Amino acid sequence: MKIAIIGTGYVGLTTAVVLAYLNHDVAAVDKDEGKLNLLHEGKSPIHEPGIQSLLTEVQHTIRFTPSVADVVPEAELILIAVGTPPKKNGEADTQHVEQAAKEVAQVCLPDRHYTLVVKSTVPIGTNQRVAEVVASVFSERGLRGNVSIASNPEFLQEGLALQGAFYPDRIVVGANSDEAIDTLRRLYKPILEQTFDPPSEFPRPSAYPLPPMMTTDPNSAEMIKYAANTFLALKISFINEIAGLCEEVEADVTEVARGIGLDARIGSRFLQAGLGWGGSCYPKDTAALLGVAAQSGYRMPITEAARTVNFRQRERVVEKLHNALGTLNGKTVGILGLAFKPNTDDVREAPALDIVRALIAAGATVRAHDPIAIANARRALSGLQTPTTENQTNNRLSFTEDVYELPYDADALVLITEWDFYHRLELRRLAKQMKTPILIDGRNVYSPEEARAAGFHYIGIGRF
Ligand SMILES: NC(=O)c1ccc[n+]([C@@H]2O[C@H](COP(=O)([O-])OP(=O)(O)OC[C@H]3O[C@@H](n4cnc5c(N)ncnc54)[C@H](O)[C@@H]3O)[C@@H](O)[C@H]2O)c1
Repeated sequence: MKIAIIGTGYVGLTTAVVLAYLNHDVAAVDKDEGKLNLLHEGKSPIHEPGIQSLLTEVQHTIRFTPSVADVVPEAELILIAVGTPPKKNGEADTQHVEQAAKEVAQVCLPDRHYTLVVKSTVPIGTNQRVAEVVASVFSERGLRGNVSIASNPEFLQEGLALQGAFYPDRIVVGANSDEAIDTLRRLYKPILEQTFDPPSEFPRPSAYPLPPMMTTDPNSAEMIKYAANTFLALKISFINEIAGLCEEVEADVTEVARGIGLDARIGSRFLQAGLGWGGSCYPKDTAALLGVAAQSGYRMPITEAARTVNFRQRERVVEKLHNALGTLNGKTVGILGLAFKPNTDDVREAPALDIVRALIAAGATVRAHDPIAIANARRALSGLQTPTTENQTNNRLSFTEDVYELPYDADALVLITEWDFYHRLELRRLAKQMKTPILIDGRNVYSPEEARAAGFHYIGIGRF
């Protein structure tokens, strides 16, 4: 099938390489010249396990271009995968989606049928709005449009994006036209029937059941995406709330999570207490859902509470450090992990950013390490490194690629991202170099006994 994908970010690029691997004829459009330059050189602009090798494998079959006019007219199916960032009031900004829909409608050929699919995460009713945008462009062009609109929300998890694309739990399609549903069923046929030869890096999981393609109306499909993310976010916030109480009453949240997770109705996933969620989805999508609710005059106290508990985790870790050190002013803190989760270079809404900002504001000096995300974090935190006076720069924030430089003369270490790499650190070597060997394990990665045996004063989340 001839496909045009608008947007080559985490979602668009993952979708492009997977669909090309499944032998679809893929063209991808982006406005970001930097990204396009990299893609033309066969380099992935994002860090995602397996994406570079798969891109190399299918590169000669995908066209990357800045212009919708180059690729949309000949396409049968167009996927919109552009960003929907939060506005100041938390609502999702759909201007890029609407702009992409407009640009598509401007170049559609009058005598052809197209299926236009919104993959971006969008507020309920956006598919309807996209249909109106397309209809209005067609009317300006004096044409009768022949475009079916569908919602096909994306559920990918960064760090596991390709695995999830080849072996999804489900595919959700919201459409009012049978034609759009049939087109999407043809698009996903190799995945729905698992008829493709798995790439060597992504073997088919044993006992993987064929994924269902659920079809529904567009509004419900859009709501499914927000409800799924909000549910996962509140599951994490729930265990973090329990973790805080565990600290008060000397219970161990890892034991509590194990005990409740064994209940099949609850399940053990997303019950790891820690510093809470970040990234480009949960913070933005929970806020956007509250925005949708507010427009209807409806309150969602559970979603509000999930957000409150989540962002409190970032403050609590700074309080813990303060309590352990007496003051943060003049202290040196080493940060293990800047990405919002392991296996990604994405630092959007990462807990590390808020924690670093709070430490610097409290007078601490911060040295930070991450296996992949230093460049993105440096950009995101660049405001903290700007000159404080005309001739002086604020040098209380630095980054190191050598994790064993981090503890040198430090007063405390804080583990923020649970990269596998950190599981294998030589704790004794780290502790030895520190002024005071305090370790705040923000993801409960280490066993308290081992960390203490290595010489650390160990402080986890919800355990003692
Ligand atoms: N990242 C995730 O884990 C994830 C998971 C599920 C859903 N989503 C949703 O998918 C959407 C995309 O997310 P992302 O993380 O891939 O975003 P991203 O910011 O990484 O990528 C978006 C891309 O779209 C491009 N773009 C914007 N307007 C354009 C236009 N008019 N024409 C061509 N290109 C344009 C941008 O240059 C950018 O490269 C968002 O709605 C997001 O909420 C993201």
